[in-house]
Amino acid sequence: MDASTPIPKDVTLPLPVPPELLVIFHVVFFAMHLLFVNLMLGGVLLTLWYELRGRVRADYDALAHEIAKTISVNKSLAVVMGIGPLLFINLLYTSPFYGTTTLIGDAWIKIIPLVMIAFLLAYLHKYTWERMHAHKGLHILLIAVVAVLLLSVPLIFLTTINLMLFPELWPRVHGFVDALFLPNVLPRYLHFLLASLSVMGLFLVKWTQTPYFPAEKLFRDLTRLELRQQFYALAFGATALQFLAGPLVFATLPAAGMNLRTMGAVACGVACAIPALWWLWQELNQPTSGAGRRYWHIIGAISLTVMFMVIGRHLYRAESLSLYQAQIAARTANYEQQVEEAKKGVFPQHAIAEKAAASAPPVTPASGYTSPLRADKRFAQGDAIFHQVCFVCHAPATKLIGPPILEIATLYKDHPEGIAKWAQAPGPNKRPPLPMPPVVGKTMDELTAVGVYMLGIGDEEAHKAAPAK
Ligand code: HEC
Repeated sequence: MDASTPIPKDVTLPLPVPPELLVIFHVVFFAMHLLFVNLMLGGVLLTLWYELRGRVRADYDALAHEIAKTISVNKSLAVVMGIGPLLFINLLYTSPFYGTTTLIGDAWIKIIPLVMIAFLLAYLHKYTWERMHAHKGLHILLIAVVAVLLLSVPLIFLTTINLMLFPELWPRVHGFVDALFLPNVLPRYLHFLLASLSVMGLFLVKWTQTPYFPAEKLFRDLTRLELRQQFYALAFGATALQFLAGPLVFATLPAAGMNLRTMGAVACGVACAIPALWWLWQELNQPTSGAGRRYWHIIGAISLTVMFMVIGRHLYRAESLSLYQAQIAARTANYEQQVEEAKKGVFPQHAIAEKAAASAPPVTPASGYTSPLRADKRFAQGDAIFHQVCFVCHAPATKLIGPPILEIATLYKDHPEGIAKWAQAPGPNKRPPLPMPPVVGKTMDELTAVGVYMLGIGDEEAHKAAPAK
């Protein structure tokens, strides 16, 4: 995080339930949303694929029509299930979420019209199957447009949610395209598309084998067994490719958010995916009637994989945003304290200091002791920079994210340059877990002025703590 990252104050309304509960809701509802999004998108892509193939083999056209009928159901569930996670993310990550959706707001808001147009076209496509038989090309074009629209929605979503993780990049990102090409977005998108194909493949394996699917009435010579094999092959191929896409996602994740818990969750997910792939392979190589006796094993293992991956995703997010959220919390606490003090007629430190800088001789601070360093020409400049950059994490006598100024002043007594050096390039982490990010965009002289200011304030705090000397 560098000094130009905006650190807003938080909205200090109480949460309706404990945050841990919100996290659980968020993870569970997001997994459900994802399932139906996968089914919907997989359905659109397979409808397009089989309708195209239907031009050569009529049975595939009938199959495409059947798959098309699933789209609207899955789409409705995807939308309904999406509302929960959206609400929870607003509560859990208010500032980063609003920050990001504002930064690439024009793309983000387009999700709504895109989804609306896509849904209307999907209905049009479904209900004009017979009527547009003579204009097959146009009919296929309809579902192709739906596919393009619905493929762009998750891309916008992923770009936004990825950008949210890296507040330090916000000052550098100019619009959607910039954010789209951040390292992790496209691999994650690929990962998601493959998931859509394997989930839809697995769904169709089962559905086309049930009595509710009128295969004998629909097709001239396409058999249930043939369908079973095709959909198992799809699920197997897409799942196998995840073993390439997954590591790509993992490798392009910035290391900042990585920790053992996240790696543990991802490893558990992979561990469950391996037997799933093996069972898929066995099903594929033992064509029997029905979905096969390993079908539910596969579904169980893949569900576990998805659950672990969604948990890993949450842990990664929590880790990469921890410093930023701590800064926001500190800034909010700082602000609230100032509000309280202002109510009592006490003005914040920097207001006093600004007055002091404007009118010599300096105003005597509340402790009754004035540090001689206030006479130093650099003090006022240091004060200004401190309140621009450092105050989010450092306070006179209390620990915010960083140690109190009092402690720093003791460590660097008479060495403002030492403070400047540290601020430019902090040494190895002394007070885990949070390290101090290097301060960029300030010269050594400016930071030395901050050093003078900190030593002065520290001096005064020391007299407050142990007065009468
Ligand atoms: C994002 C929060 C943050 C900001 C902003 C920040 N600091 Fe820190 N600072 C920390 C943390 C965290 C530590 C403790 C680091 C450690 O112990 O490794 C720290 C420690 C320090 C220390 C103690 C070094 C030591 O040797 O123990 C100094 C000096 C310091 N900060 C100066 C500054 C100055 C000067 C600024 C502004 C120009 C600044 N900090 C801005 C978080 C911050």
